[in-house]
Amino acid sequence: MLGVWGGWRGLRRCASLPRAQRAARLRVRDALVAQEPAGEVKVQGWVRSVRRQKEVLFLHINDGSSLENLQVVADPSLENRDLTFGSAVEVQGKLVKSPHRMQNMELKAETIHVVGPCDTLSFPLKVKERHPLEYVRQFPHLRCRTNTLSSLLRIRSEATAAIHSFFQDNGYVHIHTPIITSNDCEGAGELFQIETSNEAKESEEKTHFFNVPAFLTVSGQLHLEVMAGAFTHVFTFGPTFRAEDSQSRRHLAEFYMVEAELSFTESLQDVMQVMEDLLKTTTNRVLSKCPRDVELFHKYIAPAQKDRLEQMLKNKFVTISYNEAVEILKQAPQTFTFKPEWGCDLQREHEKYLVKHCGEVPVFVLNYPYDLKPFYMRDNEDGPQHTVAAVDLLVPGIGELCGGSLREERLPLLQSRLQRLGLTDAYQWYLDLRKFGSVPHGGFGMGFERYLQYILGVDNIKDVIPFPRFSHSCLL
Ligand code: 4AD
Ligand code: MG
Repeated sequence: MLGVWGGWRGLRRCASLPRAQRAARLRVRDALVAQEPAGEVKVQGWVRSVRRQKEVLFLHINDGSSLENLQVVADPSLENRDLTFGSAVEVQGKLVKSPHRMQNMELKAETIHVVGPCDTLSFPLKVKERHPLEYVRQFPHLRCRTNTLSSLLRIRSEATAAIHSFFQDNGYVHIHTPIITSNDCEGAGELFQIETSNEAKESEEKTHFFNVPAFLTVSGQLHLEVMAGAFTHVFTFGPTFRAEDSQSRRHLAEFYMVEAELSFTESLQDVMQVMEDLLKTTTNRVLSKCPRDVELFHKYIAPAQKDRLEQMLKNKFVTISYNEAVEILKQAPQTFTFKPEWGCDLQREHEKYLVKHCGEVPVFVLNYPYDLKPFYMRDNEDGPQHTVAAVDLLVPGIGELCGGSLREERLPLLQSRLQRLGLTDAYQWYLDLRKFGSVPHGGFGMGFERYLQYILGVDNIKDVIPFPRFSHSCLL
């Protein structure tokens, strides 16, 4: 438990200011956990409610540092007509023990300054209303002032830190992979091409800024493979872009991907172990650092999610092969829109069924058909059903959360595959990696937004990003 000093990290004094402005600035979160009263403090934030009584004025202030608000108690003479829901205020006074059971501390106001008034009539958020996620999605510039989105964004921030710590603690080197690249790592053609505004205008006689066509990255994997050839274990965590149907509940045009690459790795199981450890360690840290924020989701948005996560954290993930998956689907008592056949990609309905069949726990599916997967995946050299050493992790409610594989480290096999695809020239540098100190290696990518959807039980991926683009005309 934090003592008064432990809880006062946010405290700053400005010695040169007049006395009234010299109060120590305190974040709401620190004020709420303070153990001792304190005089001369200043809290800045936005008003979540104003309650007037004859003898006393109550305010609730939130500054984004916690889900809980700080109660301000003031003399009604400090009332001011700009003091409304949504206004920005600076309150100075004394932090005192609260007589109410529900809160530890409250702020006894001496001055209240309305820094920025709020026109409550036109403000789309209304006091004490639990606005549906669909409603607030229309206000990407204001929705972070709601409890749900502010909790989400604090969790997102904590999960980001947890992911970085996981890799750093396990000896991985963090690499900033390029955002502008000429490679289409996944070979699926879901690329956003970039050009200068001049290039766009003068489409005749096209010259490229970089002399070659350039795209926003779909994955940092190939660049990570370069670095894994020097640092052994590397990771990246950055924005990725895909020009695919962004109206779906699981796809974004711009999303964050966590990617890791491990040299000297001959077994897919080693890669899967890192995926499982990453998921469990990150989730444990988020649950312990943001319990109230997570509780909001598990209470009001997805009540079944808490149990699901407990099961996930307790049990080892299930593993099946692609071949087994297809057999399970073929024997399913239900009819699918897409008939399950060996050689076809698993559809959302198939993933859903497989996860249910395995007991609503995360499921690794291994060894996919050779022809379904990108050129870099390691050939299992099996037959007649020819597969590569690929793995997808499917999770309840979402489907595919991670995709990974062993990489083809053998020069002749990679050369002939690239040749067949007509990619030899473009990937000379990649072939070089197999000529100079090639080692067996593998890695994976995890969609960060899908991870947040999974742990919080959020149905629409647009509700776990800071700025939703729910229509193409709504770009901030
Ligand atoms: O399965 P994917 O396409 O794998 C790769 O890009 C590999 N190169 C990663 C690697 O091995 N380093 O994408 C990885 C994950 C998916 O499993 C999914 O969770 C997420 O990225 N993802 C998306 N998330 C949101 N919107 C989209 N449009 C996504 N496409 C993929
Ligand atoms: Mg995939």
